[in-house]
Amino acid sequence: MANNVDRPQWKSNFGFLFAAIGSAVGLGNIWRFPYIAYENGGGAFLFPYIVALITAGIPILMLEFALGHKKKASSPKAFAKIDSKWEWLGWWSVTFVMFGIVAYYIVIIGWCANFFCFSFTQMWGPDPNDFFFHSFLKMSSGVWDLHGVNVSIALAVVLIWFINWSITYQGIEKGIERAVKFMMPILFLITLTIVIWSLFLSGAEKGISLYLTPKFSKILNLDVWIAAYGQIFFSLSLGFGIMIAYASYLPKNANIFKNSIIVAFSNSFYEMFAGLGVFSILGYMAVKQGIPIKEAVTSGIGLAFVAYPKAISLIPFGEIFGMLFFFLLTIAGISSSISIIEAFSSAVIDKFGASRQKVVTTVCIIGFFGSLLFTSHAGLFWLDIVDHFLNHYGLVTVGIVEAFIVGWIYRTEQLKMHIVSRLGLSGTRNKIFQYIVLQLWKYCIKFITPVALGIAIINSLMQEFAKPYEGYPLSGIIILGVGWLLITHIFAFGMSGLPWAGENESG
Ligand code: ALA
Repeated sequence: MANNVDRPQWKSNFGFLFAAIGSAVGLGNIWRFPYIAYENGGGAFLFPYIVALITAGIPILMLEFALGHKKKASSPKAFAKIDSKWEWLGWWSVTFVMFGIVAYYIVIIGWCANFFCFSFTQMWGPDPNDFFFHSFLKMSSGVWDLHGVNVSIALAVVLIWFINWSITYQGIEKGIERAVKFMMPILFLITLTIVIWSLFLSGAEKGISLYLTPKFSKILNLDVWIAAYGQIFFSLSLGFGIMIAYASYLPKNANIFKNSIIVAFSNSFYEMFAGLGVFSILGYMAVKQGIPIKEAVTSGIGLAFVAYPKAISLIPFGEIFGMLFFFLLTIAGISSSISIIEAFSSAVIDKFGASRQKVVTTVCIIGFFGSLLFTSHAGLFWLDIVDHFLNHYGLVTVGIVEAFIVGWIYRTEQLKMHIVSRLGLSGTRNKIFQYIVLQLWKYCIKFITPVALGIAIINSLMQEFAKPYEGYPLSGIIILGVGWLLITHIFAFGMSGLPWAGENESG
C-alpha cells in the first residue's frame, strides 16, 4: 500500500477546527437536540448526556482523530493499515453515509433553501402544516406511490449539490478550509442573533423552563441513556469516516487531545445554546396562540418546517427572522455535507490514486442521482426509513467495530503513545495525562463504549421486532432500510478486494 507523501494539509489548525466543528454542527444540533433533551428529562438530561460525551463521544472522536493522523489515511486505508481484513469497515461507513445519509441530508438542505425564499412573503400562509406536507412536498399515499420528481425540490437539490461540488472540488485548503472559514463565523453570528432575539420574545421564559426543568426520575430509564448516546454519536459525526479523513490532513505535530476536546465541547455547547432559542420561540408561540406549551413542542421536520413558520408569522419582522433561520440551517447543513463527500472522495483517491477533480465530480454526480430518489412524492417516507436504519444500526455498528478493532486488535497503547507524544507536556503533567487521562480513554474504548453502544443496538432491534418501524410496510423496511445496509456491505467487500494504487507496480 503506497504512502501518500504529497497528502494535502490544512493551512492552519484553526482551519481544521472550523472544518471539524462545521461537520459536527449540523441539522442534528438545531432541530434534534433540544427536543431530545426536553423529552428525556429536561435539565436532568444533562447528566446522561455528559456521561455519554465523556465515555463515548470524546473517546471515539479521539480514536478517529488519532487513527487518521497516525496512518495519514482515509478511513478504509487507515483500517487496512491495521489489517487488510478490516478495510471493509472503512468502505462500508463512507459508502452508506455518502449514498444514504448525504443523499437525503442534501434534500433537506434543499427544503431549507426553498423555505429561505418562502420567508420573504411567508408563503406558507395561515396553515404551515398543510402547506409543507401537501402544497410543498405533495406527499403521496405511501412508500411505493412515487409520482415522479418534485421539481422545485429537485432544482434546489441541483443548487446544493453544485455548491458542495464546487467546494470539495477545490481540495482541502482552497476548498473546504476556505469555505468553513467563511461559513462558520456567519453561522455563529446568526445563531447568536436568533437566540438573543428569541430570548426577548414574551413567553420565552415558559419555553425555557420547560426545556431546562430537571425531571430526575427520568434518568433511571434506559431509553434516556440510549437517546444520549445516539445524540452524541450523530451530532459529533462519529462513525462517518469524516473525522479520520479530516485528521489525516493535519501536520505531523498536531495536538490530537486538545483538538478532540475543543471540537467535542464546541459541538455540545452549540446544541445546548441553540436549544435556548428553539424553546424560547415555542414558548412565545404557545403564549401568542393561547395553547399549552407542551402542544407547541415538536422536533425535526415538524419543528423546522411547521412550528417555526407558524412562529415566524407571529413575530414582528418575522420575514427577517425566517430568512436568518433557514439560511442558518442551510449553511449548517452544507458545512456537514461537504465533510461527508470528502470522507468518501478521500477514500477513493487513496485507493485508486485518481485525481481529486475527477473523483469529486463523479461522486457528486452519482450522489445527485441518489438525492433525486428522495425528491419523489414519497421522498419523506424514504427519508424517514433510510435515516432510521442508518443511524440506529449503521453508525452504531461502525462505532462498536471501531472500538473493538482499536481496543482489542490494534491495541490502544499504540494510539495512546501517538496522542501522548503530541501533548507538548513533560514531567509530572505528562505522567498524569499518560497514566490517568489516557488510561481512562483506553478503558472507555475497550469496555464502556462498545457495551453502551451494544445495549443501544439490542434495544433498537427489540423494538423493531415488536412492531415495524412507524407502521411502514415490511417491503419498504426490508428494501430501503435493511437493503441499503446490505447493498453497501457488498460494495464495501468488493472495494476491499481491489488492489491499492501503486500496489501492482510494486508487486
Ligand atoms: N453531525 C451532523 C449533524 O448533526 C451530521 O447534523
